[in-house]
Amino acid sequence: MTQQMTIAGLLNKKKKKERITALTAYEYSFARILDGAGIDIILVGDSLGMVFAGYATTIPVTLEQMLYHTKAVKTGVERALVVCDMPFLSYQASVESAILNAGRAIKETGCDAVKMEGAGRMVHIVREVVASGIPVMAHIGMTPQSLGQLGGYRVQGKTAVRARQLIEDAIALEGAGAFSIVLECIPQELGEIITERLTIPTIGIGAGVDCDGQVLVTPDILGLYGEIKPRFIKQYADIAAIAAAAIAQFIEEVGSGAFPGKEQCYAMSPEEKEALQKLIQ
Ligand code: KIV
Repeated sequence: MTQQMTIAGLLNKKKKKERITALTAYEYSFARILDGAGIDIILVGDSLGMVFAGYATTIPVTLEQMLYHTKAVKTGVERALVVCDMPFLSYQASVESAILNAGRAIKETGCDAVKMEGAGRMVHIVREVVASGIPVMAHIGMTPQSLGQLGGYRVQGKTAVRARQLIEDAIALEGAGAFSIVLECIPQELGEIITERLTIPTIGIGAGVDCDGQVLVTPDILGLYGEIKPRFIKQYADIAAIAAAAIAQFIEEVGSGAFPGKEQCYAMSPEEKEALQKLIQ
């Protein structure tokens, strides 16, 4: 039997210095592929707004969309820890809205945890959500839901003062009870310091090799989304090219009559065929 990944299991990996792997998924079929390959964490990221829905940013993503996709992902997963990303304005306004909406994610999708972006006043909200029994993954650095305030997709924590602030933010979020923290788009040196200072696992995305784990957006690594290409992405396959070639072949074969072949067709028995001919004469 496959052993289910748990929060304790992730902490154990950090202690043993075993790297944690995480990727995003938004649907049942890819969730099955990732889970079968042995990924530790499947994040149903609000990046689905961009890579699935084609929006320019993650801002328009709704809670209902996140619940729908997380439920589909969870159905395809046996082993990985499934984390539902809380979309913009589903948790920032008040502790009450955060608990109720994160609670919906847990109750209605069966996911294991939620993710919330930000620090500062978010620390209090994270503390209260955790106190209500919901595991929270924090997320600091380049936080796409604050894109306007951050001035676009930029590396965060490049100055000593900003870097110290991010270290303090990470420590505060750990103190609030977050079970892990995503560090997005920060200098490698800062990723290393935060990872050393925390007892919870850091999951880097553009935060260097010293983080306890790495996360990437699956359509980015498979060449299925090319609109924004930050330096931290590594493309491992060109699935778009494979898909385009297969679709071109389908179009060609339908046109030429090569598809469907005999093997894709159903046949009537000769007796029924003859009987039918008599019936429709
Ligand atoms: O939405 C997302 O996919 C994320 C990852 C980039 C960490 O937050």
